[in-house]
Amino acid sequence: MDLGLRGRRAIVCAASKGLGRACAEALAAEGADLVLNARTAASLEQTAREIADTYKVKVAAVAGDIGSTDIRSAVLAACPAPDILVNNSGGPSPGKLATFTADDWAKALDGNLRAPAAMMAAVLDGMAERGFGRVVNITSSVVRHPIDVQGLSAAARAGLHGLVSTLVRGHIGRNVTINNILPGPFATDRLISNFAFQAKQKGISPEEALAARQAELPARRFGDPIEVGRLCAYLCSAHAGYISGQSILIDGGAHPQLV
Ligand SMILES: NC(=O)c1ccc[n+]([C@@H]2O[C@H](COP(=O)([O-])OP(=O)(O)OC[C@H]3O[C@@H](n4cnc5c(N)ncnc54)[C@H](OP(=O)(O)O)[C@@H]3O)[C@@H](O)[C@H]2O)c1
Repeated sequence: MDLGLRGRRAIVCAASKGLGRACAEALAAEGADLVLNARTAASLEQTAREIADTYKVKVAAVAGDIGSTDIRSAVLAACPAPDILVNNSGGPSPGKLATFTADDWAKALDGNLRAPAAMMAAVLDGMAERGFGRVVNITSSVVRHPIDVQGLSAAARAGLHGLVSTLVRGHIGRNVTINNILPGPFATDRLISNFAFQAKQKGISPEEALAARQAELPARRFGDPIEVGRLCAYLCSAHAGYISGQSILIDGGAHPQLV
């Protein structure tokens, strides 16, 4: 199926590796031109080069923390009229409520709530005027299925979900959609660092913690980031204009729930 994305302009935040990169690759595979962001210039530029070479699309890189107003302005200056916005950022630190510092709270809210809110505020009206817009927020399964040490993540992301709910009806009439993807356990560096935290708490090695988790997953494997990328590309496609305000769990059946 041709997703109708050739020549579309996409901003993908936090995209040098992991789920953000997978979204960027899936969009590039469909012919979209990209502006990518991540904090570390060297790895971001390498990713941008690899994607441009592989998929023969235009890829620009803007390095810096997406939680910063100046960096968001630079990203938007590189792509002033995006058709697609993929909001993503690093995940908040795990821990217990009493141990979260003011800095932990600021980082979590800046990266996972204020940044996507500011990016949407900057692009939604232009998308509506041009008659096409697709916004995908990468959030987390913790919004539906809390993990006790992920309180910062759940709090910041639940705020974003609440905000999105208020935006959908004002934009769908102009072919602008906003959806959230809620990943379960995907094989990325973030997953490995979370397991390092849990392993330390349990007094086992990170490898043991990963193997134990994998064995108990119904799918018997962690997700492949490209599975999130392709879901993102579909939600950004010409065919998905009637899907908005949805929070789509992609977790290999990891979380029991009534369907
Ligand atoms: N993997 C999972 O199983 C899973 C499950 C649920 C939710 N999530 C969430 O999905 C998001 C992506 O996770 P991931 O697993 O793909 O992580 P990852 O493999 O560690 O990749 C994170 C990417 O984001 C960039 N980044 C981090 N903080 C940033 C910031 N403040 N500003 C700009 N770029 C930033 C990183 O590059 P730099 O370090 O160079 O900035 C990197 O490109 C996170 O919010 C995570 O909590 C992941």
